[in-house]
Amino acid sequence: MTVLHSLEALANWQKKMNWEERKSSFVPTMGSLHEGHASLIAQAAATSDLVLVSILVNPTQFTEASDYEKYPRSLEADAEKAAQAGAHAVFAPSPEELYGGTPSSEPVQWGALTHSYEGAKRKGHFDGVVAVVDLLFQATNPDVAVFGEKDLQQVGVVRRLAQERHPSIDIQVGGLVRDENGLALSSRNARLDEQGLEDALALSRALFELRQSHGEGKQWTGVLVKARAALSAHPAVDLEYLDVVDADTFEPWQGIPNQRAYGIVAAQVQGVRLIDNARLKA
Ligand code: PAF
Repeated sequence: MTVLHSLEALANWQKKMNWEERKSSFVPTMGSLHEGHASLIAQAAATSDLVLVSILVNPTQFTEASDYEKYPRSLEADAEKAAQAGAHAVFAPSPEELYGGTPSSEPVQWGALTHSYEGAKRKGHFDGVVAVVDLLFQATNPDVAVFGEKDLQQVGVVRRLAQERHPSIDIQVGGLVRDENGLALSSRNARLDEQGLEDALALSRALFELRQSHGEGKQWTGVLVKARAALSAHPAVDLEYLDVVDADTFEPWQGIPNQRAYGIVAAQVQGVRLIDNARLKA
């Protein structure tokens, strides 16, 4: 597998592969690849000639230094997994190489999209995401970029970034992948022990309950209040939020039928921060 560590190596590879003339897709990641990433890479490979995957644990999007330090890193195994899923190369610069010096970010204010839920709980997180994705888009300039639905609010932020600064890049979304028990796949799951993995299922169960009640036409606001109370009472779950939002704006959903209503949840289990979401369909 070709692993490119510098902007120069990336530019040379793109030239050699005729990147500009072929249909190109880009899948940005922070590594520690699992089946969810593999499905994004496979989705990209199914519709393009060339697939580039980036692997960079981006310091500017972490709000806790210890979370950044503890984030799992496994470049060699990741490059192998990316190749198996259909990638043609991996771009793995150091943060300093990509940022051209000490990594930093500028404040981004796109209303609820950047300042509610994940934006409120992890202040500055989306500033860092916008900074790194902007630089990655400048460096790679693909036809298509694929992001996972698991990070639903990030998808909205990246769409806005592309609309403002990279209108030629088509943002596509790959569906969230769950394990056989219903737990949303995440690189952070590796930090949970057996009990933690069991406790973490309370998050997806709450979302499925919301979805089912909504599908049955039940008064979903009442169901939401009950589900919130149940999760808050769970001794092993430290709930941050459980809500139903319009996925395009990340404003709380007002029950308007033609909006994309999603249940979203964030909580800590064994000190590991987990997020999940599920679309509510009538
Ligand atoms: O979703 C992620 O893994 C990261 O937020 C991203 C998009 C690669 C930016 O660092």
